[in-house]
Amino acid sequence: MALSPQWLDELRARITLSSLIGRTVKIQKAGREYKACCPFHNEKTPSFTINDEKGFYHCFGCGAHGDAISWMTEQRGLGFMDAVKDLAAEAQMEVPAPDPRAAQRQEVRATLHNVMAAAQDWFVERFNSAEGAAARDYLKNRGISEKTIREFGFGFAPNSRGQLKDALSQHGVDQLIEAGLLIKVDDREPYDRFRGRLMIPIRDPRGRVIAFGGRILGDGEPKYLNSPDTPLFDKGRTLYNLDKASPASRQTGRILVVEGYMDAIALAQAGFAEVVAPLGTALTEHQIERIWKMVEKPIICFDGDAAGQKASIRAALRALPLLRPAHSLQFATLPFGQDPDDFVKNKGKAAFEEILSKCETLDSRIWRNELARIGPEPGPDARAELLSRLQNTAKSIADVQIGKEYDRTFRDAFYERFGLKRQYFEKLKAAVNDVYDHPLEGRHKALHRAVMLGLMRYPTVLKTKFEEIGKLPLEDEFQKTWSSSLLDIALHNSDLTEDMVEQLLLDADVSPIAKRDFQKDLGYSFYKHHDDPTKPIRDLELVIDAINYDYEAKSELALSISKLEASMNQDIEEVHLSKVNDNHVSKLRENDEASRRLREILDLAATGT
Ligand code: CTP
Ligand code: MN
Repeated sequence: MALSPQWLDELRARITLSSLIGRTVKIQKAGREYKACCPFHNEKTPSFTINDEKGFYHCFGCGAHGDAISWMTEQRGLGFMDAVKDLAAEAQMEVPAPDPRAAQRQEVRATLHNVMAAAQDWFVERFNSAEGAAARDYLKNRGISEKTIREFGFGFAPNSRGQLKDALSQHGVDQLIEAGLLIKVDDREPYDRFRGRLMIPIRDPRGRVIAFGGRILGDGEPKYLNSPDTPLFDKGRTLYNLDKASPASRQTGRILVVEGYMDAIALAQAGFAEVVAPLGTALTEHQIERIWKMVEKPIICFDGDAAGQKASIRAALRALPLLRPAHSLQFATLPFGQDPDDFVKNKGKAAFEEILSKCETLDSRIWRNELARIGPEPGPDARAELLSRLQNTAKSIADVQIGKEYDRTFRDAFYERFGLKRQYFEKLKAAVNDVYDHPLEGRHKALHRAVMLGLMRYPTVLKTKFEEIGKLPLEDEFQKTWSSSLLDIALHNSDLTEDMVEQLLLDADVSPIAKRDFQKDLGYSFYKHHDDPTKPIRDLELVIDAINYDYEAKSELALSISKLEASMNQDIEEVHLSKVNDNHVSKLRENDEASRRLREILDLAATGT
């Protein structure tokens, strides 16, 4: 059976060598490769290496060397065809039936490579001839250097239906059609596909030209015309600039994925050689897998317009089912309306590096997109839809463990944003800030003294607010003695008058300092004598209550906030704390009412009323 080299290459490309070998040998990651103790000879320190990107293993000790197929034949002892069948089953490829035409197809491809090489030479020749002046000017205006022109092999297709056909006639019209260089419609005369266009050669990983992209000079439709799929070219399996990006990625450890040819070329010119682009289609599974052979987390950097961002999301969703440990995508987002080409030209290399340094993870990119879809203040329907969309997205991940972690990450993000706990937390924080703006703040000592002096003038309050006075949060030792002496006096005497209190305090050795000092003390209503004592007494009682409310609310809040903070780290859906928090919020409201009244009294005091 003749298996074509292309088919075998595809088979090798689809097998991840390290996981194949890892099934029978203990392997260890070492940088970009894996290491193991060599299974072909006896050793204690590993000199056997596996390179997934190149698809081969090599032992520095005994020289054993091979690919997935030789691993199956030499280490597992299978025959060649059995090895191929096993691997094909794993790679979900069909082993082609014996086909005498396979060898012939191989022949065809070899011929087509020659045709494409000849076409490339001819386009470059045209580009450098008088005919190519407009194309050269066009690139000059776009800031493309001579060096870049040479490296990327820009060419020019003259505006004619037959020049290429004539120039490459030695290859035969059929070959030129098969190579996609001529178009044949029905029985009509075949004609040149690319006419009046700037030509960009598309190369395979070995650097051979397999297709072209042709850009119109200036405005017009279509802006880009590409080669059709041919025996050499499969759009969905090709990445533009892979031949240069792959070796460059080994230096930098990264790969940038951009949308267009010119983005890739402009970035390469600016010093980012590790850049590839799909060819005018969404990123395919095959392309993602191919990039993962070079780096674990390629950076998607599509245009900063709506279409580019939509394409990013499509790439994200397409990668999900394929995710495996350590492999993912990253996303770099450009300012709105700019593509990498514009950006790097206007802002320079450092600014682009800065954008790359702020890459977003795959889960975050998806979350941000879903969040943007539902608008700023989603109701219950929209929230439920969001949550179920996120859950379905996580379900599309084939790897069970990764799927679970995405689900958890999405739910955490959801509850962090919309969960009750977060809302109560915000509410409480706001309430606390209110309390700390309270008029009592910083005035406690003076107020306590005022209350004490008020109690001496209106001793009936010692009876009506006996317990509350006992609870006053006094900090000053003298004030504590003063207050307990007053309560003591109230407990042992009835029908107290101002003079009696003064005398009894004197007896208890407290009074001299208790004298009112007009310099220090404010003019509260309860300092003065009134014909009708109703108002000053009410004010005094109110101030006592306000001080206590203030104190209690603050301590309860501090407790509740510390409880809430601790619980933020626990199961995010748990909401029983909300009840407790509700009580605190209503307590704060009461306190608000008290402080409003207090503010009134203080205002009156200040005006001496
Ligand atoms: N494309 C295509 N056919 C088109 C337009 C675009 O195949 N008619 C593909 C090309 O591969 C192109 C990519 O989509 O490189 C991105 O398109 P666009 O953003 O329009 O191209 P730019 O890279 O911005 O091209 P330019 O700067 O030359 O305008
Ligand atoms: Mn663009």
